[in-house]
Formats: sequence, structure tokens, C-alpha cells
Amino acid sequence: MKTKTLLAGLGLCLLSACTTAEKEFDAERALDYCDKQVHRTLEELKEAGGGTIDYTMMPRNIADSLNTWHCRKATKEEWCAGFWPGILWYDYEYTGDEAIRREAEKFTASLKFLSETPAFDHDLGFLVFCSYGNAYRLTNNPEYKQVILDTADTLATLFRPRVGTILSWPRNVELFGGHNTIMDNMINLELLFWAAKNGGNPYLADLAISHADKTMKYHFRPDYTSYHVAVYDTLTGDFLRGVTHQGYADNSMWARGQAWAIYGYTVMYRETKDPRYLEFVQRVADVYLERLPEDYVPYWDFDDPAIPDAPRDASAAAVVASALLELSTFTQEERSKHYRAAAVKMLESLSSEQYQSRKSKPSFLLHSTGHKPAGSEIDASIIYADYYYIEALLRLKKLEDAENVHS
Ligand code: GLY
Repeated sequence: MKTKTLLAGLGLCLLSACTTAEKEFDAERALDYCDKQVHRTLEELKEAGGGTIDYTMMPRNIADSLNTWHCRKATKEEWCAGFWPGILWYDYEYTGDEAIRREAEKFTASLKFLSETPAFDHDLGFLVFCSYGNAYRLTNNPEYKQVILDTADTLATLFRPRVGTILSWPRNVELFGGHNTIMDNMINLELLFWAAKNGGNPYLADLAISHADKTMKYHFRPDYTSYHVAVYDTLTGDFLRGVTHQGYADNSMWARGQAWAIYGYTVMYRETKDPRYLEFVQRVADVYLERLPEDYVPYWDFDDPAIPDAPRDASAAAVVASALLELSTFTQEERSKHYRAAAVKMLESLSSEQYQSRKSKPSFLLHSTGHKPAGSEIDASIIYADYYYIEALLRLKKLEDAENVHS
């Protein structure tokens, strides 16, 4: 009896030590910080417009040497235009601040044209699901729903049945010598699933599954690291080669590409509950986790020979943190704890003095790398890093809130 009581006491102790360790990272504090930076950005955008905001201009990046946002017009070519509206919706979700909601509505409206024009490329999911997807989730406004449904149909026009995947970059068929599908495209499948389940054509889900299955088969090396681009024969659909576009080399593990894969196959499991995806995503995540530096923020490419003097990619860390928090809810016991602890460690690092912009800039984070081979956005603040950072913080807070209710 005495032994039993002792063991029970020890168990409780271990449990509370674990909870205290996790509590050392304060998601709410980080979310409060994000809210402050959102207000700073809005002020900056207002000042830049002489007192009025141009809602068609979206914050995109802040170079290492600068301290104000470089904004880009919301056009069909600007793949990042949905992240800033998405950040505003997440900030509204956290704060309930109606003034932020009004700003979110106005920036979101600037993307409606995407549902009314032919597809430029696969990025429609990033553009419309981060903005309108969150808008509808939080408001149930039927106008938002229609934009999402129409955009999903537009994205589906890029699906090529002979290959079985979406043609990610129609403009680059000649450049790559065939039908190209990029790993980033995995993120845009969520839009198709959502539409299929919410009044759109159910066939959209079949397209997403076909795309994910073919990608699973050809887009990864035997060690589960991914190519950035898979090139397929346009007519036969045969896999021709795996190459890079934004990574160090054709055979290297480009950090954000692997991050998109982890996020994308976690969504595949959520949407289908097919155990093949769950099994697969764990392998894809594990090879990434095994090779991380100590602070869990990857170098921009895991195989850059310049490491440890190569730039980091905080955006990949934010994407993976968010994905692992969801993956931790699909896995059991030790695995679940492992993914959750890794995600918390990523968020801890990203929330440290080293990675948060704090007073220096209005962005949330520093040290992301966009397109190193093109010499673009190296060691910069980039809007999608901020988007996945606030998403991950909210996911962690929701997990903690749910656990507190049940404890
Ligand atoms: N989707 C492009 C990138 O990840 O940079």
C-alpha cells in the first residue's frame, strides 16, 4: 500500500514536472507579442498611405538591413498575398478585437478576383484558403464560402489526368522539360478537400488524393527526403526526374520543401483518415527532425556545405511546428509526446530574442530564407513565416485550453 502510494506520488510528480516544463513556453505571451506587431504593421501601412491604407498592397518581406515592410500588390502572380489577411484573421481569433476584424475583411476582399479569373498557378490554396478560408471559418459569411468554392474549381483546372497531379507552374513546362509538380503544391490540396466537403464537386477530393498518391510515390527519395520539383512526361505521365528550384541541389533536402511535405501529408491524414498517409508523414517528419541543429530551426537547406555558416529558415521551422502540433493529435503516447515536444522546442526558439524581430521591425520573426539560389529574401523577415508562427501558437494554445478543460 505504502509502495503504491509512493509510486502514485512519483507518477504525479513526473506528470507535473512535464506540465511545468511545457508551461515554460508561454503561447499567450507570444500571441500578445504578435498582436502588438500586427498593430505596428497597420500603423506603418497607414503612414505609408498618407493616412489611409491601400488594401491591395500586402506586406511581403523585410530585408535584413531594413526595418519597414516591402509590400506587393495582390495580383495573381503574387503567391504570398493571402498570408497577411490570414494573420489578421488569426489575430482576430485570438484577441476578438473588432477593429482587427474590419482590417481583415478589407484585405481579404482584395483577393476576391482570384475566384473570377483563370488559374495562373497552383498557389490558389495559399492565396485563398489562408485568407478566405480563415475568414469563413470565423464568420460563416456565405459570400466567403462562394469565393472558396469557385477558387477550388479554378485550381482543379490545373489537374492533368494523364499525369494524375496538378501542374504547379504552367509557365515552367519548357524550363523543366515536362509537367512539373512542386512539393509546395501539397499545401493547396486542403482547399480541394474543403470544397468537396462543403457543397463543391466531390470529385475535387479525388483529385487531391490522386495528386498526393503520385507525389508520395515519386517525389521522395528512399530515405524520405523530398525533391522540390518532380518532372513528369506530359503525355504518358511517367516520372522523368526530381530536381530542385529553390534548394541547394537536386538531391539535397531543401528545408521548406520538406516542411511543406510534413504539413501536407498531415492534412492528407486529417482529411482522409487513410493510415498510409499517417505512416508516411511520420517518416517524412522523422528524417527532418533527426537532422536539425540544436535550436530546431533548420538551415535553409540541410545539405548546404556552408553549414554552420549558411542562413537559417525560420519559416520552415514555423510550418513544421504547426504541422507537428496537429500530427501529435493523430499519434499515440510516446510518438505524440515526441512531436509535441519538438514543436514546442521550435516555438521556444522562434520566440527567443534571436528569432523574434521585437523592436527592430514590425514583423514577428527574423531569419527566413525565400529563394537562396536566386539571391532573393535571404535571412529576411518573410510574411509566411509569420503566418505559420501565429497559426502554430494558436494551435498550441487550443491544445492547452482543451487539456485544461479536461484536467
Ligand atoms: N511556395 C514557394 C516557397 O515555399 O518558397
